[in-house]
Amino acid sequence: MTTAPDPQVVLVTGASSGIGRAAALRAAARGDHVVLVARGRTALEDTARECREVGAATAEVMSADVGDDAAVARVVDAVLSGHKTIDLVVHAAGVVAYGRTEDVPADVFDAVLRTNLVGSVNVARHVVPVLRRQEHGGLVLLGSLIGHIAVPTMSPYVLSKWGVHALARQLRVENRDLPDVHIAYVAPGGVDTPIYAQAASCLGITGRPPPPVDSPERVARIAIRRGERGQRRRQVGLANDLVRFGYNALPGLYDVLIGPLFSAGALDHTRQVPDGPGNVLESREAGNALHGNQGKALVGILGNLRQRWRAVADQPA
Ligand SMILES: NC(=O)c1ccc[n+]([C@@H]2O[C@H](COP(=O)([O-])OP(=O)(O)OC[C@H]3O[C@@H](n4cnc5c(N)ncnc54)[C@H](OP(=O)(O)O)[C@@H]3O)[C@@H](O)[C@H]2O)c1
Repeated sequence: MTTAPDPQVVLVTGASSGIGRAAALRAAARGDHVVLVARGRTALEDTARECREVGAATAEVMSADVGDDAAVARVVDAVLSGHKTIDLVVHAAGVVAYGRTEDVPADVFDAVLRTNLVGSVNVARHVVPVLRRQEHGGLVLLGSLIGHIAVPTMSPYVLSKWGVHALARQLRVENRDLPDVHIAYVAPGGVDTPIYAQAASCLGITGRPPPPVDSPERVARIAIRRGERGQRRRQVGLANDLVRFGYNALPGLYDVLIGPLFSAGALDHTRQVPDGPGNVLESREAGNALHGNQGKALVGILGNLRQRWRAVADQPA
């Protein structure tokens, strides 16, 4: 007779939406103990209820801002005092702001760096010593293709994700001595989550996931697998490799093409949105959900091209 593996203790940040929510549900469905972290409590409670429904051993909610080092320390202490161990941390908390370097307001720019980059450092600062003491366990950092390239009008996000990319490599170098401590890094391309609708913007429009678009469930599955096995592969999808090849090997051509390609495939020109901080400065819980429901990428691109054509046609001769 085979026995089920012991439930793992899985801590997920950004657990109330998108990839983090999918990771929490995946761990819950195999009977793990899940600890759910984000700023907004109500959406976390919803996620915890879903986790119990799919089979979580336990599902706890801890409201915390990952940009606050003391708050992250409290979360890690609380998990240890409840469960004695941490087997896997999926760090998926993240925010986006659209705008050129000089246009994004300073408080929004800093807050993107604080959540995405400083938040990742805070999580590593408190989680890595636990994993090292245990001599086992995994930490997965959610990066992005954007942490390997430059794109127009996502300045703070680009900087923050290059930082996460660097942090992941740094942590791997620092923790090579313990073979059962896994530092994993996952860099998705476009994923259909609410992050685009939740973003800060000073463009009058927001973004959409560029093709090929992954589901949050697929990215969560990859993140958990890499965190548990310590796999070296970092990108999600071959399209990322193609874009990175263009960026690194053909920089002149890349810089010419990325503006129009990004505008057609990664922005949504069909819907005007008021400029503002989105969920960057504080949680907008009502917008958190598992999926972004962005529709087909090709339809989005055609909508953008139609909008562009109309704008040109409407110009006075
Ligand atoms: N979606 C994509 O296309 C894509 C592509 C590449 C990489 N990624 C990365 O994948 C990760 C997850 O993104 P997603 O698309 O799943 O985003 P999402 O659906 O918007 O979810 C973001 C989660 O992070 C939480 N959060 C935001 N700021 C926080 C803070 N300061 N402290 C604690 N929690 C915070 C949010 O809840 P509260 O607001 O209530 O705190 C929410 O639970 C991010 O690192 C993102 O950069 C996403």
